[in-house]
Amino acid sequence: MNGCVGTIRPVGDVRERFTLRRGVEDGPGFAADIRAGLTAVQKSIPPRYFYDELGSALFEAICHLPEYYLTRAEWEILEGSRQAIIEAAGPVTHVVELGSGSGRKTRLLLDELTRGRPIRYVPVDVDASILETSGHDLLIEYPSLSVTASAADFRRPARAIRGLLEGSSRTLVLFLGSTIGNLDRDEAVMLFRELRSVLQPGDTVLLGADLRKSKSVLEPAYDDRLGVTAAFNLNLLQRINRELRGHFDLKAFAHRAFYDDVSGRIEMHLVSLREQSVRIDDLALDIAFNEGETIHTENSWKYDEESVGSITAVTGFEVTHRWTDSRGLFADVMLTAKT
Ligand code: SAH
Ligand code: TRP
Repeated sequence: MNGCVGTIRPVGDVRERFTLRRGVEDGPGFAADIRAGLTAVQKSIPPRYFYDELGSALFEAICHLPEYYLTRAEWEILEGSRQAIIEAAGPVTHVVELGSGSGRKTRLLLDELTRGRPIRYVPVDVDASILETSGHDLLIEYPSLSVTASAADFRRPARAIRGLLEGSSRTLVLFLGSTIGNLDRDEAVMLFRELRSVLQPGDTVLLGADLRKSKSVLEPAYDDRLGVTAAFNLNLLQRINRELRGHFDLKAFAHRAFYDDVSGRIEMHLVSLREQSVRIDDLALDIAFNEGETIHTENSWKYDEESVGSITAVTGFEVTHRWTDSRGLFADVMLTAKT
């Protein structure tokens, strides 16, 4: 069958509007990062390795958990304030999204932005497979959209989007889901500084940040009763087993998440349940664990007005708008690039 029938559009058209740039060089790579992380005194694994195909699917499931209020709170903000957000962003031609994932919340904004005008969407994510599926779905839904996806590390945004903003007269950058919380302050400052260098004065960033609140709300969001977050965390060990021929016994490790309200962050760890030694064939390495020893896998920093301001003030942005959900759990802040 040929041409359009009802609302079904030809697939060829979708392919023409999609490009994916892969393999922008992002540092030492999985094997070297695992070696460095697991031979340090406090063992750790960089959190971007959560997101292989299964990891991204588990993260999507986390977003549906009753305890994980973040996605619903941000959904409420974007749905309720999208008109105001888009007005504040001005005549946008390019939308960059850092850590785009499934792009479900992005649709709330694209519904408005694509009305009657062409928009170039530039999603950046470490997981190339999610860029392909979400890009394809968005192109079917939005005929005036073109997608230039970049499989790269968003901590170096200038490199990730180099050459992809050509012809832009106004760019809106989305950094949603409190993904900024997974960066330490120095990394966040570096990211915003580099981002500022590729934007024009007047361009905007919509930043989603989870707010400080009581432990009794925060901790269950990172340690749900169904055990999906535990599976998400343990998948790191499974990934080492699969990709580096590791021999982790997943039953010999447990998920642990706790809130440190002095520093204002959730820490996630994998705890060794016994004394053990784990072989990783491809690294020719045996790693010794004491009982109770942990691998630190992620931080999730919680923000307040002051901590957002302290990052933006030193990176060439100013906070021009702020929206919160009805329960005051989460904030979306609009930053405008200064001259
Ligand atoms: N924006 C979505 C997804 C958030 S999950 C939401 O708000 O629900 C974080 C996303 O960022 C994942 O899709 C993950 O693959 C991606 N990611 C994590 N670390 C990254 C990094 N260093 N560079 C690029 N993408 C990263
Ligand atoms: N950035 C989000 C957060 O900190 C998403 C996330 C990353 C997450 N890792 C997670 C959520 C582990 C739950 C568990 O909330």
